[in-house]
Amino acid sequence: MNKDTLKKSNTDITAVSESEKQREFMSLVRGLTSDTAKRKDRDLTACVVTFGCQMNERDSEKLKGILKECGYNLTENEDADLVIFNTCTVRENANDRLYGRLGALGKLKKDKPDMIVGICGCMTQEADEVEKLEKSYPFVDLIFGTFNVYKLAEILYSRLVSGSRITDIWQESREFVELLPTERKYPFKSGVNIMYGCDNFCTYCIVPYVRGREKSRRPEDIVDEIKRLTDDGVVEVMLLGQNVNSYGKGLEEDISFAGLLKELEEVEGLKRIRFMTSHPKDLSDELIETMAASEKICDHIHLPLQSGSSRILKRMNRGYTKADYLELIRKIRDKMPDISVTTDIIVGFPGETNEDFEETIDVVRKVGFDSAYTFIYSKRRGTPAAKFDDLPEKQETDKRFNKLLEEIRMASGEKSGNLVGKTMEVLAEGVNTHNESLLTGRLSNNMLVHFPGSKERIGKILKIKITESKGFYYFGTEV
Ligand code: 5AD
Ligand code: SF4
Repeated sequence: MNKDTLKKSNTDITAVSESEKQREFMSLVRGLTSDTAKRKDRDLTACVVTFGCQMNERDSEKLKGILKECGYNLTENEDADLVIFNTCTVRENANDRLYGRLGALGKLKKDKPDMIVGICGCMTQEADEVEKLEKSYPFVDLIFGTFNVYKLAEILYSRLVSGSRITDIWQESREFVELLPTERKYPFKSGVNIMYGCDNFCTYCIVPYVRGREKSRRPEDIVDEIKRLTDDGVVEVMLLGQNVNSYGKGLEEDISFAGLLKELEEVEGLKRIRFMTSHPKDLSDELIETMAASEKICDHIHLPLQSGSSRILKRMNRGYTKADYLELIRKIRDKMPDISVTTDIIVGFPGETNEDFEETIDVVRKVGFDSAYTFIYSKRRGTPAAKFDDLPEKQETDKRFNKLLEEIRMASGEKSGNLVGKTMEVLAEGVNTHNESLLTGRLSNNMLVHFPGSKERIGKILKIKITESKGFYYFGTEV
């Protein structure tokens, strides 16, 4: 970061806490945007483009909240006065997509030299990527990371007063900065970070390197945030963490994830609780019991399998075997027979043989996942697996991938017919994108249901009779 710029901007600030300080920067930026808006005789616009997972979605809501406070009108259109790409680097194709979009933005900026372009998120936590951005993408104005999202106003202010690019990347998180503005995508549901980072070091995964060590937020701060959200009309929360099952590690008070859920159960006005992601190795009996006894925790668990072969799981450093995974599913279904189970699976991991892959298919058949996200292994620089040189043939991996998709399609197709005729609670989430007379909502098990209804019903939990199954979604009518 340009030190003189930082010093200069800091002299304007009188705040004591970090969040107050950031609010002051927001008002300083607002002064500048309002001057520019007057000069241009129009409001300034900002667009935040999100790649990747729900963590990034939530970070983008924070970025948007800050930008709105800075005086920008938010837009989905990349032809804006300020554009931020919140990036993902979990697989190589995420990086490729980013560079494609960035190239197009560079062309747009040629005709709009005042445009500000920012890049943040997981990709900017990789030194090589930052070097590439700095060298080959001179039109990028702001480069910041995953640990200082809350500092956007300060970084933007430095850029606006200095006129030069600001790169500000931290190697680890310094503090949780709460109570900053957020711009939620949905008025009635929200993600809530309960922990950041990951300590598991699965050998294929870059997350521990770009999101840092696991850090849990204090339960009272989480409860406070959720109370504020419910006061503001939220009925459903998605608790977010890379491995929510190890929530509480390192906190002063002795609290488990199940303990946190029990506290959240008491929050008035909160109707549904979801969470992701669970790691099979840390999923406790206490959690299963808490889920089974809860009125609010949804009937859904996302439990990444990654591979059905114990040999590959060991090489992935996952900390469980095929038998452990199947036993866990048995225990979960024993207490919650109707729960939907979804998963993540990687195909083509180094050393995966056809026999290993058949073990994965065996688990898919035995468990009958309601749905699964499937990925072809992508080598990530700096991870232990990047050194494994026994990658299966690409043709073979593609063949396995297609077979896996087919098996998953068959399994979920078989299961989804089961609900026809039942009346179930559905959170109405929006107008159907293909037919305006229908609303689209979600069952507790996370599946989509389309039903006739008017806009006023959005955000409410309704009783819907399921009339037809379409495999991955349903049709129904309100009763
Ligand atoms: N290659 C392919 N898939 C990966 N995932 C994480 N890292 C990789 C990788 N290098 C998948 C895992 C994880 C999901 C979020 O992304 O399945 O659960
Ligand atoms: Fe990556 Fe494994 Fe951590 Fe998930 S648990 S973020 S796959 S290292």
